[in-house]
Amino acid sequence: MEAMQQWVESLERRARSRLGIGRVADYIPALAEQDANRFGIAICTNQGKIYHAGEAQVPFSIQSIAKVLLLTLALRVQGDALWTRVGRNPSGMPFNSLTQLEAEGGKPRNPFINAGAIAVTDRLVGAFATPSKHLRDVARRLSGNPAIHIDDAVQASEWRHRARNAAMAYLMKAFCHLDNEVDEVLTAYFACCALSMSCVDLARAFNFLAAEGHALSLGERFIAPDLARRINSLLFTCGMYDAAGDFAYRAGLPAKSGVGGGIVAIVPGRFSVCAWSPALDERGNSVAAQYALELLADDLGRWSG
Ligand code: DON
Repeated sequence: MEAMQQWVESLERRARSRLGIGRVADYIPALAEQDANRFGIAICTNQGKIYHAGEAQVPFSIQSIAKVLLLTLALRVQGDALWTRVGRNPSGMPFNSLTQLEAEGGKPRNPFINAGAIAVTDRLVGAFATPSKHLRDVARRLSGNPAIHIDDAVQASEWRHRARNAAMAYLMKAFCHLDNEVDEVLTAYFACCALSMSCVDLARAFNFLAAEGHALSLGERFIAPDLARRINSLLFTCGMYDAAGDFAYRAGLPAKSGVGGGIVAIVPGRFSVCAWSPALDERGNSVAAQYALELLADDLGRWSG
């Protein structure tokens, strides 16, 4: 067996020791039904080789990981004009906090907290007829999996329990920081968060961030190298919300988590990785997936040292 495959399997074995810690997200009832003991991990190298272990081919709700694709598309469409609507600094606050948004005039701190992603979605609602279908098609092309779909039950559940996200959207609207109707923007945002993808799909889809913007599955550059570097910087500083500093200390990798339990991380120049396990810590990041990525970073440090 190849050394890389053995390594991924050893990461799975060791990370499974954290199963049983944390809680599955239940503020979106459709997510509360997930089995907390699932675990998967997949690596996609910049040569396009996939190594995976555990339940790496099981689709799960990507949730906030979609915010990375939303941002990438908005930057492709709008360029730096996007930064008039959303900032680029860590929030130090929970992903669904409202207090900072009001104190800072309706401009969210960064594109990865909920308010920021809703502001980014607003830009895409202006640019595409059906932004969530566009984003789904991009996810299909980047991952090479035409079966990727939006989970209607998750989307409906998010819509029913939208009060907090709706509060953020209305606050931004009141500050004239949202151009489109709140309901339209929220519908598109929830549909994107409700995309179902597996660890293998996500590792493949985000490989362009490890490969200076080149997407193997497209056979061409998806974004410019400097844009890939900038998105990785934002992932490093803001991708794990108020735990971004802790995670940077533990793993030192650009990463994005979602309340479905997935975390995508990037080892620039080498590979992309996605780990998944549904039980979350109090900041909304998967316990076992974070641990797997910490072990991965430790091992990488040892090998290159
Ligand atoms: O809007 C929400 O609350 C969810 N659709 C996404 C939140 C999320 O994934 C935060 N991640 N840790």
